[in-house]
Amino acid sequence: MTASTEHPLGAEHIAGCLELSKAANWNQNEADWRLMLAIGYGWGISLADGTLIASTLVLPYGAFAWISMVLVLPEHRRKGHASHLLRVAIDELRASGLTPILDATAAGREVYRQEGFRDTWTFKRFALQKRPTVATTNAAGPINWRHALELDRDAFGGDREWLLRALQKRLPQCAFGAPDGFVLGREGREAQQIGPLIARHERTALALLEQALQNVAPPVYVDVADHAWAVQQLLHGQGFAVQRPFTRMVHGADRAPGDKNLVYLVAGPELG
Ligand SMILES: CC(C)(COP(=O)(O)OP(=O)(O)OC[C@H]1O[C@@H](n2cnc3c(N)ncnc32)[C@H](O)[C@@H]1OP(=O)(O)O)[C@@H](O)C(=O)NCCC(=O)NCCS
Repeated sequence: MTASTEHPLGAEHIAGCLELSKAANWNQNEADWRLMLAIGYGWGISLADGTLIASTLVLPYGAFAWISMVLVLPEHRRKGHASHLLRVAIDELRASGLTPILDATAAGREVYRQEGFRDTWTFKRFALQKRPTVATTNAAGPINWRHALELDRDAFGGDREWLLRALQKRLPQCAFGAPDGFVLGREGREAQQIGPLIARHERTALALLEQALQNVAPPVYVDVADHAWAVQQLLHGQGFAVQRPFTRMVHGADRAPGDKNLVYLVAGPELG
């Protein structure tokens, strides 16, 4: 067996981190890894030659923390690396009194179930390869941060102001607000991603999404809650196709924090 060492992840590991997410065909770019390491912290496993072969991050959001970027290089899978780093993360969060939460891929879900995570609600990634053809709309305006943060606390159940303000800078042409909703986005390695989209009413969610779609270049990803039927219809009408499903899972609780009915698009499985 090849010798490997567990260690904290820092800025010096960003290149290795990018190789990990690229190897899994994920959308994160360098800015995403830097953002997540600024909001949270993590652990890696490296070989003696310095190759990073596994990662796991945690992003604290108040009373709970997101477990993120659970990745293992393809040739090093099924050797217990993901389960090991996951246990390190769970122990650390439990010691700090934080509930671990995450959004699982189908492969990840099996690992997490064995470590005691339970399913809550589900969502799917939709992808579009061509330019959207939504009607021109100017219904939404700039984000009112006081309203947006209050709404996000109800929807998400935690405090992620730092993240939301960072996303506004990442893709300002997709950052819009209404009295009862907001949408943000970011650029990625493969595609621009729209989300989170949080709203108190469906009509607001649809108007915000249409306005954001006007301002993105293809390819585009959106992670849509399975309960957001009207949004899914709009996306199918635009030619979006379902790429893959995700399950929101919680450790030591039966339900996810917040109010899922206010969540139309999640920020992304790595962010919540
Ligand atoms: C999912 C992933 C992180 C698992 O990493 P890993 O180090 O291979 O996982 P482990 O060796 O700790 O697996 C522990 C157990 O989980 C289950 N498991 C792991 N990968 C699985 C898969 N692809 N399908 C079904 N079960 C799986 C198995 O029961 C495994 O035990 P076993 O090998 O003795 O049968 C890795 O496949 C990966 O990087 N995938 C791409 C990215 C991804 O989907 N990450 C999860 C994000 S939510």
